[in-house]
Amino acid sequence: MSETILIGNDHGAVELKESIVKHLKNKGFAITDLGVSEGESVDYPDKGKELGMELLKGDYKFGILLCGTGIGISISANKVKGIRCALPQNLFAAEMCKLHNNANIIAFGGRIEYGDSVTDMIDIYMDTEFEGGRHERRVEKIMAIEN
Ligand code: RB5
Repeated sequence: MSETILIGNDHGAVELKESIVKHLKNKGFAITDLGVSEGESVDYPDKGKELGMELLKGDYKFGILLCGTGIGISISANKVKGIRCALPQNLFAAEMCKLHNNANIIAFGGRIEYGDSVTDMIDIYMDTEFEGGRHERRVEKIMAIEN
C-alpha cells in the first residue's frame, strides 16, 4: 500500500496543515500537498473536488482535507463519486470512521477547538483497520446512493 498521504486545505487551515504535515513526515510518510500556503486564498469546494478526484486516480494511502470548520470541504469532497469523507470530532469518531465507515478522507477544521488533538485523531484513524462484515454491506449501501 502507498505510504503517500494526500493533503489539501483552504486559507482557514494553513497552520493546522503545517502541523499535520510535520507530524506525518516525522512518522516517515510522504506527503502530496494540494493545499494553499499563508497569504493565499481558495474556495473550499474547489479544493474538496480536486483532492477527491486526485485521491481516486492516484496511489495514495488516504486523504486529509482542512478548512475553517472542515464542514464545507468535507461536504464538497463527498460529492465526488467514490469518496467517503468523514469529519471526526474526537478520538472515538476518528477510530469509528475507519472501523465502520471505511472513510477514505478525514477532514478537520483549522478554526475549531478540539478536545483531542488532530494528530492523535489522524494516528488512530491510520492505526485502525476497516472491520468489514456487516459494515461492508452498509458501506456498499452508502456507495449505491451515488447511482
Ligand atoms: C472560509 O472562510 C471558510 O468558510 C471555510 O474555511 C470553511 O470553514 C467552510 O466550511
